[in-house]
Amino acid sequence: MACPFNHTAAVELNPAVLPLEWLLGTWECDEPGEGCFPTIKPFRYTETLHFSHVGQPVINFMFNAFHAESKKPLHRECGFIRMQPATNRVAFIIAQNSGLVEIEEGELTAQQLTLQSRSLARISFAKKPHVQQICRVFQLRPDGKLEQTVSMATDSQPLTQHLQITYRRS
Ligand code: HEM
Repeated sequence: MACPFNHTAAVELNPAVLPLEWLLGTWECDEPGEGCFPTIKPFRYTETLHFSHVGQPVINFMFNAFHAESKKPLHRECGFIRMQPATNRVAFIIAQNSGLVEIEEGELTAQQLTLQSRSLARISFAKKPHVQQICRVFQLRPDGKLEQTVSMATDSQPLTQHLQITYRRS
């Protein structure tokens, strides 16, 4: 089915983002992801990822997460992915529902994206503790499943894993 956010579903993928073609489409978590951090109670969550394009040298994305048991919507983020021409440099431009906006940059190696936050900004009344650094890895596994891990550092904690989840293409 054509993605409702992609008005020109038939348009060809722009060559500038061709190396990211393997991300395109909708991914549903395989089983609930695991969330943790030294200062919070461990939790389980489900998440759907959508990656689409409209022919621009950009991939559009939306990630929607829910509590695994209560099914309540939790974290949401959306944004754009760009690649530096003729290199494997990748940039994610991200807005999060918590009031955080960020730029993550990194590298594409085979079918793995390794990203680090380069710039973070937040609304003036964002909940504390504030995130100071984010590291994220997306990896397409040989079995066709996609894995995402996210680590973060806050005002009070050094860089520590927050999320780990595996998705299958839906
Ligand atoms: C807590 C950041 C993604 C669920 C937190 C906290 C921060 C944070 C700063 C507070 C930690 C503390 O109190 O010391 C982020 C960032 C994310 C992200 C930067 C993405 C890059 C997610 C996702 C979920 C999630 C995808 C999935 C449901 C939670 C939950 C808590 C939490 C349940 C504990 C309760 C709460 O403080 O709301 N997160 N988070 N987070 N996060 Fe995330």
